[in-house]
Amino acid sequence: MASVKDRFLSMLIKSSGYISGETASKTLGVSRAAVNSAVMSLRNDGYGIDSSTNRGYLLTSRPDRLGSGDIAAFLPEDRMSSVTVLPVVDSTNTYCKELARKGAAEGTVVISDQQTGGKGRRGRSFASPAGVGVYLSYLMRPVTGIEKISEITCWAAVAVCRAIKDCYGFDSEIKWVNDILMNRMKICGILTEASVEAESGAIDSLVIGIGINVNEKRSDFPEELSSIASSISIENGGKTLMRSELASALILRLDELAAGWPDMHGSYLESYRALCATPGNRIAAYTTMAGDAAPRTGEAISISDDFSLEVRFDGSEDKELLKSGEVSVRGLYGYT
Ligand code: BTN
Repeated sequence: MASVKDRFLSMLIKSSGYISGETASKTLGVSRAAVNSAVMSLRNDGYGIDSSTNRGYLLTSRPDRLGSGDIAAFLPEDRMSSVTVLPVVDSTNTYCKELARKGAAEGTVVISDQQTGGKGRRGRSFASPAGVGVYLSYLMRPVTGIEKISEITCWAAVAVCRAIKDCYGFDSEIKWVNDILMNRMKICGILTEASVEAESGAIDSLVIGIGINVNEKRSDFPEELSSIASSISIENGGKTLMRSELASALILRLDELAAGWPDMHGSYLESYRALCATPGNRIAAYTTMAGDAAPRTGEAISISDDFSLEVRFDGSEDKELLKSGEVSVRGLYGYT
């Protein structure tokens, strides 16, 4: 059960007018004193709440916070019952996988304001500072084999682009397989981790981990990432964006994904093809895990029906399908 403070905050965000103390205490099932103390605590956290003797309480301003109450305001009633919001965690994927191991249902979500051990693809770390990003993991239990994992990850990339458009109105692009770009800079990465039944190869649980750089400033990125990584805010004029709206839009789009799997293949493929910036570009394909072997270079042609990348490598007439693996796209950003 969410705290009185979180539930009252949700009420305030959803309301366009004043909420009387009496309505608040009745709706929340608590005393007027408990409502007063929630108001004081919210003001301490930076929320502007006007109080007027006759009319009650009105939210006049709110900080960019990724709390339960902020997120719940933009979700259907009860959706928060399977959403865990944490101030800090090592990795939301690790936390979500543990919930999955204990039997959590599809649609379980873990969100954190900060990660101390954020994981990236290929064993890399994912910088996850406090107060600027959205780090979210979503549990799926698709009835499918492991060969479909990369396709689900491509669907997730579409879901992220749709969520960003839903809440901020900004367009983004996908760099094959699943990096999200704005102005050709990476603003989001996706790491999907599966637990597979050894004998059948069937997926038991799939955790889709999404890390979005929302409000970082240029100086927040280390020198070596300055030509590669950016944030949604930087790429759109530098103003602070509300992360709670993005987190809730993402949950709704991931719910849509889970409900649509696998029947909505055509719709996600069409969207992926429209959003993917890789075809038509020179690419360098690194085949080793470490990425230190000389890459094969060529031209990315198209996205095939199973979301593979069709490539014509230099010196070859034939086209090849890359199912996954590290592919660097020259001219998009510096993974060459
Ligand atoms: C990448 O670009 O290499 C993938 C980055 C994925 C980061 C997200 S943040 C939420 C989830 N928890 C993690 O530890 N990693 C993913």
